[in-house]
Amino acid sequence: MLSYQHAYHAGGPADLHKHAALAGLLGLLKRKPRPISYLESHAGRGLYDIASPEALKTGEALRGVGGLEPAEHPFWDAVRAARAAQGPTAYPGSPMIARSLLGPDDRITLMELHPAELEALKAAMSGAGVAIHKRDGGEGLRALTPPSPRRGLALIDPSYEVKTEYLETALLALELSTRWPEGVITIWYPLLSGARHEELLGPIEAVRPKGFLRDEAIFADPPARGMYGSGLLLLNAPYGAAEALAEARAAVADAFADPASARVA
Ligand SMILES: C[S@@+](CC[C@H](N)C(=O)[O-])C[C@H]1O[C@@H](n2cnc3c(N)ncnc32)[C@H](O)[C@@H]1O
Repeated sequence: MLSYQHAYHAGGPADLHKHAALAGLLGLLKRKPRPISYLESHAGRGLYDIASPEALKTGEALRGVGGLEPAEHPFWDAVRAARAAQGPTAYPGSPMIARSLLGPDDRITLMELHPAELEALKAAMSGAGVAIHKRDGGEGLRALTPPSPRRGLALIDPSYEVKTEYLETALLALELSTRWPEGVITIWYPLLSGARHEELLGPIEAVRPKGFLRDEAIFADPPARGMYGSGLLLLNAPYGAAEALAEARAAVADAFADPASARVA
């Protein structure tokens, strides 16, 4: 099923939590002057317009990036770069944030299945050092890891349209964490009133793999029903990752409830 389109949600509070963390973690990895691999299983279209009809329909971007003042953080550097290149309502997706922060020696590998999203992704992201695959993200990550260079990060950001995706994502992440011990495995998940995300957390928390971190943020202005917050799980988190996550959340803090409601474990 491929009915999900990220254009309705781009730049919303969940994206801020995920994208600021991604930028902070890539910045942490790039403190060592060695090339890295960045892989993404569910890439989306790479570049969004928060003035599009889709974005205006949900209003999520207005509760997110549209309501915040840029701060000093790599995430905001990537947002500024997208705006400078594409106009003031441009918003970078995770692939573009990665490209903005990585260098010519780093490798970016992106998976996307939706035909229209794939074409938009190619238009936004094609170039040296970027490989774009039309394939299932889980199958692609299994086939392409461990990558070269071996240091790096994988972002797993499914749309969770199919309820089995929670358990499948947990099993994928656990497999990758041993298949690619140098890889920082990063999973985004929604906090939903039905607590469906426990199907993802349960198997991973039962194993407590090496470098396990859980970071959750509650939206300042959640809708009456549905998603009320955003979660990230890290496996193989490197030294300094917890601080990088905290700094990332501080850079987008106004989209979230009192920071004390956020949880890092
Ligand atoms: C949440 S969006 C990705 C957003 C993107 N990571 C970002 O933060 O900018 C999920 C994407 O996964 C794509 N998708 C859904 N099922 C997929 C699959 N099995 N393999 C790869 N991509 C898939 C959808 O078309 C959608 O574009």
